[in-house]
Amino acid sequence: MAGLSQRLWGVEFQSPVLLASGTCGYGAEYDGLIPLDDLGGIVTKAVSLEPRPGNLPHRVAETPGGMINAIGLQNVGLKRFRDEKLPWLDEHLTKAHVLVNVVGHTVEEFSTVVAGLDDATGFLGYEINVSCPNVKGGTLFGTDAKALSELVRRVRQTTARPVIVKLTPNVPDIAVYARVCEDAGADGLSTINTFPGMLIDVEARRPVIGNVSGGVSGPAILPMGIYLTWRAAQAVEIPVIGIGGIRTAFDALQYVLAGASLVQIGTALFVDPNAAVDVQRGMAAHLESQGVAHLSDLVGAVELPNHA
Ligand SMILES: Cc1cc2nc3c(=O)[nH]c(=O)nc-3n(C[C@H](O)[C@H](O)[C@H](O)COP(=O)(O)O)c2cc1C
Repeated sequence: MAGLSQRLWGVEFQSPVLLASGTCGYGAEYDGLIPLDDLGGIVTKAVSLEPRPGNLPHRVAETPGGMINAIGLQNVGLKRFRDEKLPWLDEHLTKAHVLVNVVGHTVEEFSTVVAGLDDATGFLGYEINVSCPNVKGGTLFGTDAKALSELVRRVRQTTARPVIVKLTPNVPDIAVYARVCEDAGADGLSTINTFPGMLIDVEARRPVIGNVSGGVSGPAILPMGIYLTWRAAQAVEIPVIGIGGIRTAFDALQYVLAGASLVQIGTALFVDPNAAVDVQRGMAAHLESQGVAHLSDLVGAVELPNHA
């Protein structure tokens, strides 16, 4: 699959396909199930300073065309992640790259997690999850341009590793937030996180999800993900990772044509753990059938009509 490799942030990704944060645990959960080390990489579950127990059930439910989740960023916290989870990744993934998804309540907390991991081995860089409340301002980091800029600047000062900011789709114009991240020193963007949603159990007259609302993901969000990835990629020079609703190679290729250099697959893994492996195989087959030597020839290659 030589045509699929991508050189980004000073390293070679053997494939553009990564597993999305929160859908592959810390990697070990997929051990023996799929050939993890043959993928482009994985993004870990969010890591916060202290362990988080997550929300009360139900935490997930099926929706037409996908799922809704409100896990509540349950995770083992910085110390256990560093002591127990990273060594496994370091030992088992020699070709696939690892991005650590980082979450915090404050700029300080993000920066402390990054500083606490930075000299460890077993990962390439960080994916900063800004779809979380900023305790200081009360808004989400990702919907408040000032807070977002401050956060990215601080993380940038804390590490020389790649800093990729995972944007929320819940903003009027994602291009504005993409530029804020680039100007603050981000090395890349991941687009997109989940959309807010709610389901109601009609007979019980109660929300299905314990947290009342949750994030919607899966095939239902594919067109929004492609559009927002295209908008973001148009606005910046830094690489973009396309996320949202990918199930097939053609889904992934749409993100690439829209401007994504890499893609991530999440919800589809719950239907078929092999989805990511199949997607990368299908992408390679497409390149061959179209006589395209290299995937990078397709990045951002969507041709718009003259009247657009
Ligand atoms: C169960 C679940 C847990 C998730 N946890 C995280 C997380 O910890 N951090 C994060 O940035 N995104 C998280 N996400 C969002 C996904 O990484 C991804 O952005 C989103 O699901 C859209 O991709 P998909 O349609 O392929 O699932 C989670 C998604 C799901 C379904």
